[in-house]
Amino acid sequence: YRIAICGEAPGRDEELQGKPFVGMSGRFLDGLLSKLNIMRQCCFVGNICQVRPPMNDISKFDLDGPQITSGLQLLQADLQQFNPNICVLLGKTALWAAMGVKNIGDWRGSYFISQRQGPFFGRKCIASYHPAYCLRQYEWTPLLTFDLRKAIREASTPHLTLPVRNLVTNLSFAQLLDELNRIVATKPAISCDIEGGVNSMSCISLAISPMYSVLVPFTDLLGNSTWSVDEEVQIWWRLAQIMADSSIPKAWQHGLYDRFILQHSYKCVVRGNKDDIMLKHWELYCELEKNLGLQASLYTDEQYYKFERKSTSQEEFYRYCCKDSAVTYEINEKLEKFLDAGQKAHYKFNNEV
Ligand code: URA
Repeated sequence: YRIAICGEAPGRDEELQGKPFVGMSGRFLDGLLSKLNIMRQCCFVGNICQVRPPMNDISKFDLDGPQITSGLQLLQADLQQFNPNICVLLGKTALWAAMGVKNIGDWRGSYFISQRQGPFFGRKCIASYHPAYCLRQYEWTPLLTFDLRKAIREASTPHLTLPVRNLVTNLSFAQLLDELNRIVATKPAISCDIEGGVNSMSCISLAISPMYSVLVPFTDLLGNSTWSVDEEVQIWWRLAQIMADSSIPKAWQHGLYDRFILQHSYKCVVRGNKDDIMLKHWELYCELEKNLGLQASLYTDEQYYKFERKSTSQEEFYRYCCKDSAVTYEINEKLEKFLDAGQKAHYKFNNEV
């Protein structure tokens, strides 16, 4: 593996010793690396800034100022020499240097190739929480651990292959009926996700594998109906058949919400609710957030996509809905393998009540 670990700036210990990550957060990082069988000596370890900031707070430096600009130049030269296959960006300022954004909570755990001029340009990266923050916020340590594990998986080649899912959003009425009829007839395990709320469900997606999901639209972003009344009746008829069929196993992410909308607003009874990844994930990491975005970052290679929910592009919004059910499918299969017998029994109890 060839891993470059890039933090923000030296603290007191680093300044005294002239080496990166040798103080508290460095020792904590060393502990995590050794648990994961990563030899620090085999990695490049550095910072995007070589000057200790006032009060150890890098935000006291201007991002375009001399301290960070010169730090990035030095880092660029170091990375050219070390030539890592993956760069682990610790903290939001390192993320900014590679991507131009600072929302570390959203982007941590996603692989990406940096498109930003500077030390990371063209290089495969993954960002995570800074160890110093993990020392203050206990729940973030498992996330940093997950992200380091992801880094190792991608550390033997500089290339990046992200999942390519077949998200089918633009079927004609006849094609959509065919898809729904096939599900009615063949009864595959599906995962489902709705968009919208009480009396305002705009679409639902049904995934029949992690790589294939079909959109059933009802309204567009402006609220206009996609179908004529007759067409919509036929679509609902099939959808209701699928939902009511207890021999079609269904997986959800927090399905209580989706099923409440389906049953309360659309009188659509839902049976065969075999899995809920919110509860399944909870068996493993009850202290972590349970939302789909976080789970996708832990259990899949899907890049952060949750911002697409607010998209003003119809196509992107429909693809977003399909991605949710496909990703749910993938996570559900993965979690199944991780739960031990006791966790499975407890999960089953929770999911069935
Ligand atoms: N924090 C960093 O970002 N880098 C160091 O070298 C030490 C602490």
